[in-house]
Amino acid sequence: MSHSPRQTDHAIHSQFIERWSPRSFADTVLTQEALMPLFEAARWAPSASNNQPWRFAYGLRGDAGFAKIASALVPFNRAWAEKAGALVAIASASTLERDGVSSPNPWHAFDTGTAWGSFALQAHHAGLIAHAMGGFDAAVLAEALKLPEGYVLHAVVAVGHQGDAADLPEMLQAREAPSPRRPISETVGHGAFL
Ligand SMILES: Cc1cc2nc3c(=O)[nH]c(=O)nc-3n(C[C@H](O)[C@H](O)[C@H](O)COP(=O)(O)O)c2cc1C
Repeated sequence: MSHSPRQTDHAIHSQFIERWSPRSFADTVLTQEALMPLFEAARWAPSASNNQPWRFAYGLRGDAGFAKIASALVPFNRAWAEKAGALVAIASASTLERDGVSSPNPWHAFDTGTAWGSFALQAHHAGLIAHAMGGFDAAVLAEALKLPEGYVLHAVVAVGHQGDAADLPEMLQAREAPSPRRPISETVGHGAFL
């Protein structure tokens, strides 16, 4: 009997352990209609002062935007992510504008991570896979996507339909499985951080 590495110690909604980040994209197109609900889910994430600092730029397989984002990926990621249906760059505004005065927003990355989490779970609900990547050239991507002044790039996400793991290079096939997690007992302190 196979033993899943995703056993929980406490009862939670199955979405949290069923979502994972495969690399085996099916080499199929993703329509704009299929992609937009993922941004819609991200849109409703909570943020400090409801500032909504997250920003997204995307390309659909075969279009110029997709090629621009793909060109900024490190070769390891590009090799499998080019088979995704869409590539999405995630950035955030690092400053707040209030009454014409600009000040740093210390929570911009925290809030944008929350939005990405909703995006990923919505992808899972829609029967799609979403795989975030930090392996990209930020200078190349900023230039290619016209990242505005004061914005910070966080990740590129490959989105699409899951394909056959057997189509991945052998080295990646071995890693194509849901991963475990550190136990709560090593993560959560009662009264103080561990
Ligand atoms: C911000 C961020 C950057 C990541 N960068 C990469 C990457 O460059 N290449 C890659 O193959 N996976 C990347 N990952 C995927 C993680 O390795 C993966 O989410 C993690 O191992 C947990 O696995 P799971 O998403 O399947 O639960 C990244 C994930 C996040 C959230």
